[in-house]
Amino acid sequence: MAIQIGTTPQAGFDEPIELLMDCHRRVEHFLDTLIRVAEKAPCPLPDEYRRALTTARHYFDQAAPRHTEDEEDSLFPRLRAMDDPEAKKVLARLKALEADHRTARVDHERVDQVTDRWLEGGTIDEDSRRELIEVLHRLRRLYTEHIRLEDEEVFPAAQRLLDEQQLQAIGDEMARRRDIDAERGP
Ligand SMILES: [Fe+2]
Ligand SMILES: [Fe+2]
Repeated sequence: MAIQIGTTPQAGFDEPIELLMDCHRRVEHFLDTLIRVAEKAPCPLPDEYRRALTTARHYFDQAAPRHTEDEEDSLFPRLRAMDDPEAKKVLARLKALEADHRTARVDHERVDQVTDRWLEGGTIDEDSRRELIEVLHRLRRLYTEHIRLEDEEVFPAAQRLLDEQQLQAIGDEMARRRDIDAERGP
């Protein structure tokens, strides 16, 4: 199977909302990769599947948690601080989104346990594979609605409601989280 490492972000840290949307495309891509490996990889695990699995795991271990922090620590608090009727509508969504983040974390921990064993031993028993596929599809369903809500409701509202300075502050925090100079871009 073809292995595609995550695409380079289109947006820079001066466009933090676009950058958050780019992250969603990577979440979808790497989740699909995990599902493909879980459903199709023969036993013992061939090298190309091992590489795909390792790359996708690396994304969810390293990059995805920073995306959650971008939302929970940089974007959502600024929306919560807005005194605006449109913001109030969006605020009603944020609690559910944060609950999704916690639910996803539990399922990702299970995925980590099963795939760690798979990578270590090179084989996976049928029960574990079945459970892995089930957990991954549950995550796919969760992310589908979660990402739709963020891309179609929360992010466009943030784009309209937050001023240039607030957006710049979010971009700077995102850059710092990745230890990158915001001037240089991602
Ligand atoms: Fe989120
Ligand atoms: Fe998100």
